[in-house]
Amino acid sequence: MSNNKTFTMIKPDAVANGHIGAILDQIIKAGFKINAMKYIALTEKTAGKFYEVHKERPFYGELVNFMSSGPIVAAILEKDNAVDDFRKLIGATDPSKAEEGTIRQRFAESIGANAVHGSDSSENAEIEGSFFFSAFEKF
Ligand code: RTP
Ligand code: MG
Repeated sequence: MSNNKTFTMIKPDAVANGHIGAILDQIIKAGFKINAMKYIALTEKTAGKFYEVHKERPFYGELVNFMSSGPIVAAILEKDNAVDDFRKLIGATDPSKAEEGTIRQRFAESIGANAVHGSDSSENAEIEGSFFFSAFEKF
């Protein structure tokens, strides 16, 4: 599988705190191109489906509630080595452990409300991107 795409969401905390513009600016300046993008709200059902892999984890209920608590920005991003480079750009899941200058260090509130999602593999990037976007919405 090619390694030039990843999928992201700007999560409800970062949207509510007014960080959409700053986060997109950092993503674009890091060399990612936007392949698809939408401003949309997940329901509990769609958030539950998206995070189904975490169903057995203790934080699943909290995660689904949080991710359906307000609008998000969903996007497919394109760059060489997209998945790994984007995970580096966003930093550790827990923002208190995220490196200086990373998106989570700059904008996240907590391990739950951590500003952005980034796919963990090219295979999952494809699955997650196709959850939100049809072929006609990718450029
Ligand atoms: P993401 O999928 O959102 O990019 O985050 P990640 O890979 O860094 O972390 P993952 O293990 O996939 O967890 C997904 C999201 O669940 C929330 N979480 N809460 N309360 C907790 O201990 C806890 N652990 C994880 C976070 O919002 C995390 O991003
Ligand atoms: Mg993950």
